[in-house]
Amino acid sequence: MKVLLIGGGGREHALAWKLSQSDMISELVCAPGNAGISEHAATVDIAADDIVGILGLVQSMEIDFVIVGPEVPLELGLVDLLYERGVNAFGPTKMAAQLETSKAFTKEFCSRHKIPTAGYEVFTDFDSASTYIHKNKPPFVLKADGLAAGKGVVITQSKFDAEDAVKEFFDGKFGEAGQTVIIEEFMEGQEVSFFAISDGRTAIPLIGAQDHKRAYDNDEGPNTGGMGAYSPAPVFTDKALTTVMDKIIQPTVTGMHNEGHPFIGVLFAGLMMTKKGPKLIEYNVRFGDPECQVLMRRLSTDLMEILLPASLGDVTEAPMPAWFDDAVVNVVMAANGYPEKYKKGTSIKGIEAADDMDGVKVFHAGTKRNAKGGLVSNGGRVLNVTASGSTVQEAVDRAYAAIDEAIDWNDGFCRRDIAHHALKS
Ligand code: AMP
Ligand code: GLY
Repeated sequence: MKVLLIGGGGREHALAWKLSQSDMISELVCAPGNAGISEHAATVDIAADDIVGILGLVQSMEIDFVIVGPEVPLELGLVDLLYERGVNAFGPTKMAAQLETSKAFTKEFCSRHKIPTAGYEVFTDFDSASTYIHKNKPPFVLKADGLAAGKGVVITQSKFDAEDAVKEFFDGKFGEAGQTVIIEEFMEGQEVSFFAISDGRTAIPLIGAQDHKRAYDNDEGPNTGGMGAYSPAPVFTDKALTTVMDKIIQPTVTGMHNEGHPFIGVLFAGLMMTKKGPKLIEYNVRFGDPECQVLMRRLSTDLMEILLPASLGDVTEAPMPAWFDDAVVNVVMAANGYPEKYKKGTSIKGIEAADDMDGVKVFHAGTKRNAKGGLVSNGGRVLNVTASGSTVQEAVDRAYAAIDEAIDWNDGFCRRDIAHHALKS
């Protein structure tokens, strides 16, 4: 089977690495890919949001199956357009992708289906938002409705700051995405990312992982796409997994089906583990990055054996996903200055030496080859240093040893406290 993978980050490198081990794939193509992905797939320089380019590629290469990594092509309706052309794909349609692309849709959906989440109100003008803020107590959680690359959430400790933030939203800080604002109840607890695969009617669980969203140690600094992940997370017990499948995931899949937008793809639940049990913070409709890298290293089942039956509407045909016992950690190395201004094109060495170390596998995120074939940075998040170990501590030690002893990149940084929740308990 000829398979096209869309995307070019660390998540897609991990997916390409895993898919390249499948006997079900005769040819793996990735658009646009990166320097690491090109070791496992033919890469084609078409951007993930270039829908016309992707459709042309699917036709000219006679692709049988498309796997979509990032959310933007899903929001643009790539899967709908592939279906119209008779091409099978793994990922939700534009309407089903609303679970990620519209926070207001998801909050209202959760109310209709009694899915545990933070209480909320939706506002489309400043005055009514301001009245709400004055009537209620901080902290306030303010969210732009649409996609804002993880930056559309502001948590404030005062009414004054909340009003300021709402004003910025309506003044166009996030463009259209900020013209509808949601104000939510603040939830306390540890966050977990949980993943399930849905075929439109039912879902099977994958596993949970913990991400680290802030740029610097001790969860300080600006929010990022994610600076590291690990699994298993002690806070996410087997009991929590069962609760989340019964109270959150399956009601969502059933609700989407009954409302006429069956969800096929990865349902990524961002959860808060509150004292009253797991509650949904938000949905994403794709694998998480940096979580996916950890999941792919822990998964022992052939990924295609899961994704293909799900895409065809019968995930019960898939084997129950099996997992290696080892813990896995992923430490993200980012360009100095990320998530604000940073340089591209800086030289990176030592990846092979790192890969030779016990349990270590480096996935590439923003990398490319320069004219001389040397590896250079090409984005904000640049490398994902993953390591397995019999304990989380061993995995963490191996990842940092690879960073300190093997990888030679003067222009990058990483957090030094990835997996701290697991190491404290
Ligand atoms: P989101 O984009 O909705 O995942 O929000 C980004 C981050 O804001 C989350 O990862 C949480 O750390 C935080 N957050 C969002 N909603 C809430 C909430 N209701 N209570 C507490 N923290 C929240
Ligand atoms: N790691 C969070 C995300 O992929 O959105």
